[in-house]
Amino acid sequence: MVPIDELRSRFDLDLPAHGGNAGDVIDLLVDATDGGLMASAGGRFFGWVTGGVHPAGVAADWLVSAWDQNAALAACAPALAIVEEITGAWMLDLLRLPPESSFAFTTGCQMAHVTALAAARRHLLLSLGSDPDQHGLAACPQLQVIGSEHGHGSIDRAVRLLGIGLDNITQVPTVNGCTHLAALERELDRAGSAPKIVCLSAGDVNTGSFDDFPALIAAAHRSPNTWVHVDGAFGLWAGASSKHRHLVAGVSDADSWATDSHKMLNAPFDSGFVATRWPQAHRGAMSVEASYITFDSARDPIDWNPEWSRRARSVPVYAILATLGRSGVGDLIDRCCNFAGEIAERLAASPGIDAVTVPSFNQGLVRFQVPVGQDPDRWNDHVIDCVAADGDVFFTGTTYEGRRCMRISVCSWATTQQDVDLAVAAVRRVLAAETQAEDVAIDTNDS
Ligand SMILES: Cc1ncc(COP(=O)(O)O)c(C=O)c1O
Repeated sequence: MVPIDELRSRFDLDLPAHGGNAGDVIDLLVDATDGGLMASAGGRFFGWVTGGVHPAGVAADWLVSAWDQNAALAACAPALAIVEEITGAWMLDLLRLPPESSFAFTTGCQMAHVTALAAARRHLLLSLGSDPDQHGLAACPQLQVIGSEHGHGSIDRAVRLLGIGLDNITQVPTVNGCTHLAALERELDRAGSAPKIVCLSAGDVNTGSFDDFPALIAAAHRSPNTWVHVDGAFGLWAGASSKHRHLVAGVSDADSWATDSHKMLNAPFDSGFVATRWPQAHRGAMSVEASYITFDSARDPIDWNPEWSRRARSVPVYAILATLGRSGVGDLIDRCCNFAGEIAERLAASPGIDAVTVPSFNQGLVRFQVPVGQDPDRWNDHVIDCVAADGDVFFTGTTYEGRRCMRISVCSWATTQQDVDLAVAAVRRVLAAETQAEDVAIDTNDS
């Protein structure tokens, strides 16, 4: 990678007083980004949870740009309002969510959470006789959010954006990455009849683990005034695979679900999706009225999204779903999960590497055994950096249960068996070279 300062100097021109040639500007963008982009669309990129991009999605996304339609209203782009209607129904079907659910295509899972939690806030508070949208939260009973200790930061940000406040989140302990049932029940009892949102996880970002939906959702719904939201940024796609569907058994009993198409489905950024069991609350939380807007008889995306003008981001999703079909989407999910399992297994069987979590889906963790005298966490980060610098493959790190680990995240249609073989070989080669450079024995006390 080119250093940040050099990248800045390449772009940091004086704003031109007069226009120039667009072709020259595009050439400048191509040249100046060289060494400053990641190969995240390639098959050996296993960092964060970064989906690749399917060619059908890229082509459809170019159409979206060339058409330059405002997909807010059916009146602005009737064909694209219909594409969105159909794609939403396909998504509900594929992910095995209730077909009558409301939905929206958001920028990502972050805004899917915001949309779902805004619907939850409205639904819960209206049912208690308070209108948060009209009178503000100060005039309403305090909402509580109950989530797992490993909940994704995007839930916290949704809670902040919606004025619920981080102080009103209670974190429930987990066992093997899954929300602990008895602990959740204790928190539900403690909250009593207060309005509350329980946030569950379909695919923990570190371990890929899934909550026990039948037990947890039933417990939550036994408590009065409770809405259950599921963060399924990548894991909700288990529903599209006959091999992995058991992981999301019972998830359709929740009240809302958030996911991404730019992760497992390999849609281009930005592409999230939210669905709720409560269309009235969803629409009530998002819809707008203005005298200059013409409302048509078709579904108006503006009524379901936290945006006014918007990109027709359902079009690439439609293109990928139509290209792959049910079986193709299932194969894509299964291939990513199988490869994640294989990489984790083969690395854990290699000298100097321990398994931390074995993937049940597409995420796993390994940890490098530390040479005597080295700081364990720094050693793990050092090896991850060296693997990246080696250039064949890219992984990122995380802190799990207080220790630095290397994440294995397989999320791309482009990953092949050859990529997997190369990735395993690259990590082994780099680790061997680094361990040799240390020229010391492995500290087995760290494992
Ligand atoms: C579990 C989980 N939830 C939510 C998000 C946020 O998704 P997005 O980046 O699409 O907003 C992520 C992102 O990686 C995630 O892994």
